[in-house]
This record gives sequence, structure tokens and C-alpha cells, in this order.
Amino acid sequence: MRELQEKIRQEGIVLPNNVLKVDSFINHQMDPKLMKKIGEEFAKRFENEGITKILTIESSGIAPAIMTALEFDVPVVFARKRKPLTASDHLYCSSVYSYTKQETNEITVSKDYLLQSDTVLIIDDFLANGQAALGLIDLARQAGAKVAGVGIVIEKSFQEGADLITAKGFRLESLARIESLENGEVSFKTEECVSI
Ligand code: G4P
Repeated sequence: MRELQEKIRQEGIVLPNNVLKVDSFINHQMDPKLMKKIGEEFAKRFENEGITKILTIESSGIAPAIMTALEFDVPVVFARKRKPLTASDHLYCSSVYSYTKQETNEITVSKDYLLQSDTVLIIDDFLANGQAALGLIDLARQAGAKVAGVGIVIEKSFQEGADLITAKGFRLESLARIESLENGEVSFKTEECVSI
């Protein structure tokens, strides 16, 4: 997605350890017009999949997820990283280990909001090691819901997440695919050219 790549080039900051800081438009301050376009792009890519629900994880996945849900006119459910005070055993639960943060979160979704009849589109802001996306897929599986695919705003293609998800047979659509952050520079994977 061209606008997203341009924004990453203009405002993304490469930090040590292959981390891309995008606080000015995704992870802290947010750019609503860009988020709207992101939602439209995911809706276009998954338009014929019969999506009934968008599933994401708090917190930065919520903005692109809600813009996508608006396009599909379906609800968004976000997995929580901590069991809510009002929690009962009426929850689906999965363990997600973050290599970046070196911590494990128990992510949960109420059984009321993920149903066997659902066709779920999973949306998140970043795909790095893929554990968050796999945890969300696991929650959908526990509910008996169908997973139509995974939509990611920024994929770090040099980490293992993308391969893990596609190797399991899930459709993955990433709007910006980063090949490398070496030497403080963002290199995107070249998109396939369509010849006319
Ligand atoms: P995973 O999400 O693919 O499983 O990979 P990982 O465990 O490495 O990522 C842990 C957290 O770090 C995730 O956010 C993920 O979005 C974020 N992250 C990974 N690489 C980058 C990066 O290069 N830049 C930025 N800005 N974030 C990155 P999280 O803990 O779920 O946080 P949040 O959604 O509450 O912000």
C-alpha cells in the first residue's frame, strides 16, 4: 500500500535491535485518514470471504481493526492481555510469548463474542514473530469459528511470523512488508509488478 510505505519512509524511525518506531501515526499518535485507508484496503482484499467478525488484540491492533470492521459492517472483538475483573470461566484463553518483550501474556476473549458460526478476520498492527497472531488463531479455533485470514499493517518479513502463519495454511495480507531494517534504513519487499 503506497500511502503506508510513504508514511513509514517519512516518519518511521529505526531503533536498535530491528525495531521500527511508528509512534507518530500508529502506536501512540494515530492518523485517522491513513487508518481509514487501511480499513478500506483490508476490506477490498478480503471482500468475498463472508467475514462476520474482526478479531484483534489490545492495544495497537484496535484502530486498524475498527476501521476494517466499519467497512465490513461487522463487530470488532479485541483479545485482552489481562483477565478482566469481571472474568468468569466463560473465556477462551491462549498463552502468547513475546520475544521482543520477553514476557508471556494470557490472552482472553469472552465466549459470548466468538461463535462457531463466525468467519473471523484477524487484524494487527505488527507481525514480527507471529505469536500474537497465532494466539488469536487459537482463540478462534477454540470457538470453532472459521479463520478467513490474517491482515497486518506492517510485516517484518525478516522475522519468522509470516512464514509461520502461511505454513499453517492461513491467508496472510500485509499492507507494508519490510525486508530489512539494517543500517538504520527501511527496505521494503518489492511488490510483484503487474504487466499490462
Ligand atoms: P508478535 O507480535 O509478532 O508475536 O512479535 P513480538 O512478540 O516480537 O512483538 C511483541 C510486541 O512488540 C507487539 O506489540 C508487536 O506489535 C510489537 N513489535 C514487534 N516488532 C515491532 C517493531 O519493529 N516496531 C513496533 N513499533 N512494535 C513492534 P504488543 O506488545 O502487542 O503491544 P501493543 O499492541 O500494546 O502496542
